[in-house]
Amino acid sequence: MNFFEGCTALITGASSGLGGEFARQLAPYARRLVLVARRNDRLEALAAELRGIHPELDVRTYAADLADEGRRAAFATWLADEAIAVDFLINNAGLGDHGKFHSGDWTRVKAMLDVNITALTHLTHLIVPTMLRSGRAAILNVSSVAGFFPLPNMAVYSATKAYVTSFSEALAIELRPRGITVSALCPGPVSTEFFDVATRGGDASDHFEAFPAFVASPQDVVAAGLRAIKHGRARVIPVPLLAAAVAVALAIPFFIVRRLLSWKADSI
Ligand SMILES: NC(=O)c1ccc[n+]([C@@H]2O[C@H](COP(=O)([O-])OP(=O)(O)OC[C@H]3O[C@@H](n4cnc5c(N)ncnc54)[C@H](OP(=O)(O)O)[C@@H]3O)[C@@H](O)[C@H]2O)c1
Repeated sequence: MNFFEGCTALITGASSGLGGEFARQLAPYARRLVLVARRNDRLEALAAELRGIHPELDVRTYAADLADEGRRAAFATWLADEAIAVDFLINNAGLGDHGKFHSGDWTRVKAMLDVNITALTHLTHLIVPTMLRSGRAAILNVSSVAGFFPLPNMAVYSATKAYVTSFSEALAIELRPRGITVSALCPGPVSTEFFDVATRGGDASDHFEAFPAFVASPQDVVAAGLRAIKHGRARVIPVPLLAAAVAVALAIPFFIVRRLLSWKADSI
């Protein structure tokens, strides 16, 4: 039986990019999908598409700004009222901001902290108790290779993803004996709307031109994330070449890495 057969999956950030792709790849197997993001029209369009292809699939949409603690609590109440027991949580919603920290907009910085860290942690805390009762469940946290290095010009974003990877690794150890698999999915650049949102003006395509061999499609990234859950891997970097590059970079003494990062920062 497919690992995801009959699951109830909650996907945050399902209105575009990786979130929408998670929904499409899980739809043939899941019993129910709960799609969350702010743009309800996008969620409804995806739900209609999936219901058209998989009439037996129960697709629910919930429009919420996950940066808002009250909305997260109301969402948990809604899940309980609807008797929806989530057994696969995909914490995918996230945003970046590319540019110098000092010239960034505080609202954007706060949104990154609220969505990438606080909402991910809060939703996990709200849903794990139900998962513990079911005895077999999974959590996939969408992190980034940016979490492995303190990236200048993405200082806050890369710090939020360092948190996501660290949190996921610790939780994977805590929850494995209780039947819950936790994985951190750490992609490099993926062709979604992410850089359109993260780029402060300018051309988002620059981000894909620097290292074209590291760029992955949403389809491949999502497939790698689902495989990691299936095989109980705590962490996955979807592109093998990128995984090798990260392994090499992590083996280099940090003072050299710091030099390389300084050079990169100055060149932007
Ligand atoms: N694309 C990349 O290069 C890349 C690389 C590494 C990691 N990632 C990570 O992958 C994840 C998915 O990003 P993506 O590439 O698919 O980018 P995307 O196309 O921009 O999707 C981001 C999703 O997050 C949702 N979101 C953002 N703020 C939200 C909020 N306040 N409340 C609720 N939902 C919110 C957006 O929905 P609404 O705007 O409708 O709310 C959207 O559905 C993120 O965690 C990102 O950090 C991406």
